[in-house]
Amino acid sequence: MTETQAATAQTVAGTAIPPLLSVRGLRRTFAGLAAVDAVSFDVAPGEVVSIIGPNGSGKTTTLNLVTGAIPADAGEILLDGRRIDRLDPARIAEAGIARTFQNGRVFGALSVADNVAVGLHTTLRAGRPARRLSTWFLLRWIPLLAELAVALVPTRAARREQARIEAAVAAELDRFGQRLAPRRDDFAYTLSYANRRRTEIARALAPRPRLLVLDEPTAGMNPSETAEVLDQLLQLKAEGQAILLVEHKIDLVMTVSDRVVVIDGGRVISEGRPDAVRRDPLVAEAYLGRRRGKA
Ligand SMILES: Nc1ncnc2c1ncn2[C@@H]1O[C@H](COP(=O)(O)OP(=O)(O)OP(=O)(O)O)[C@@H](O)[C@H]1O
Ligand SMILES: [Mg+2]
Repeated sequence: MTETQAATAQTVAGTAIPPLLSVRGLRRTFAGLAAVDAVSFDVAPGEVVSIIGPNGSGKTTTLNLVTGAIPADAGEILLDGRRIDRLDPARIAEAGIARTFQNGRVFGALSVADNVAVGLHTTLRAGRPARRLSTWFLLRWIPLLAELAVALVPTRAARREQARIEAAVAAELDRFGQRLAPRRDDFAYTLSYANRRRTEIARALAPRPRLLVLDEPTAGMNPSETAEVLDQLLQLKAEGQAILLVEHKIDLVMTVSDRVVVIDGGRVISEGRPDAVRRDPLVAEAYLGRRRGKA
């Protein structure tokens, strides 16, 4: 049995469910310093797993590795048992992982609806003829030209697809009720900070990802905005959405997570159910203790 098959054969602890995401021995250094070191964890289908830890402990770097934004120095990442750690971010998105960013990234000069539609680009078929060629560096110009041609003179299939995209965008905006739906045609740069973050979450959710990766979705939000995000996360969880969440707001993490992974100095120092992690003295020392010390 190869290492990959061995990882694939593993199941989520205590269940017969194979993991949706499996991270094994992940390592990444910057200038010789390990930001992420021997990190392993799983996310089961429909599970909400949170990564917590002090500032600079390697949370965002872990998400960047999982989503292919940066390559790992060592380790394996499997989605549904298939290695994805050597794929580029676009292929990983196509495989079913969508993310938001810690510092928030919307396209200010695009409308709210177009920002969400960007998230559906990976689902285009008629609108992206010859898309498979984009993996071949020397042939990348062919799908680009084909895509431009279909955009200028849409085929009937491309028009049908466009209607599907518009319906999916509307459904996603409706999820955020009065926050986004009435602003669908506004430029994203006119939005409040919280609405930009909502737009980013809507963009990530639009393609119905297998795994939603959120990096501090409530950063900079006030308590009522945070409570709203918590409600939405609970709603997504009830719908069976698997989520990998990085978040500093401990009460939110404890409420929404099935399991919590705690990292400090790039290493996993504790992992388990939220109540068990909260009681772990190592966690109190590394994370909660330091935060109390800061206050
Ligand atoms: N591109 C980079 N180049 C050099 N060092 C980096 C880079 N990205 C992250 N680091 C370093 O890696 C370590 C982990 O950073 P990371 O952003 O993953 O932390 P974090 O846990 O997300 O922190 P925070 O809670 O503040 O968001 C830090 O020491 C950081 O300075
Ligand atoms: Mg971070």
